[in-house]
Amino acid sequence: MILPIIAYGDPVLRKTGIDIDINYPDLQKLIADMFETMNNAKGIGLAAHQVGKSIRLFIVDGSSYEDDEEYPELHGFKKVFINARILEENGEAWGYSEGCLSIPKIRENVNRLPTIRIKYCDEHFVAHEDTFTGIPARIIQHEYDHIDGKLFVDRIKPLRRTLLKSRLNDISKGNVDINYKMKFPLKK
Ligand code: NI
Repeated sequence: MILPIIAYGDPVLRKTGIDIDINYPDLQKLIADMFETMNNAKGIGLAAHQVGKSIRLFIVDGSSYEDDEEYPELHGFKKVFINARILEENGEAWGYSEGCLSIPKIRENVNRLPTIRIKYCDEHFVAHEDTFTGIPARIIQHEYDHIDGKLFVDRIKPLRRTLLKSRLNDISKGNVDINYKMKFPLKK
């Protein structure tokens, strides 16, 4: 089932996500719905916050880049992260133009460190500890921010953020042209 994606300005996007356990109600259905919702919106990552649930769950899927020779590291990069904790971030910060399904039509340069070590549970609650680097790490860092109640626009230069203010406000009101279902906090 395709769920509406929560737009910028909704307080749920600012909540710190709580850990869940295997008894979380309808977890497998939620994960399946999140994949469907993300693929429908042509996203490569989605956090539970973006469908209205402030829990430590996010998914990634680089399948739509499967044929893109620029990103071979995204081949087969499809994962579920539950109760994730980034243990370490290393390397020299690099910039990349990020976007977000909750903040449509805006892309901004964000600096992040290239390599992360992260522990998490998969959809079967099997524990993992893995290292990711480059674009996969970037996608995880972006989604991980969501489960901590942060957004990529928090990480851009204050002047850029000021310049974006009215466009962000328009998104909250639903004044944005998109081809997927969203829920806007200030839509009249
Ligand atoms: Ni996002």
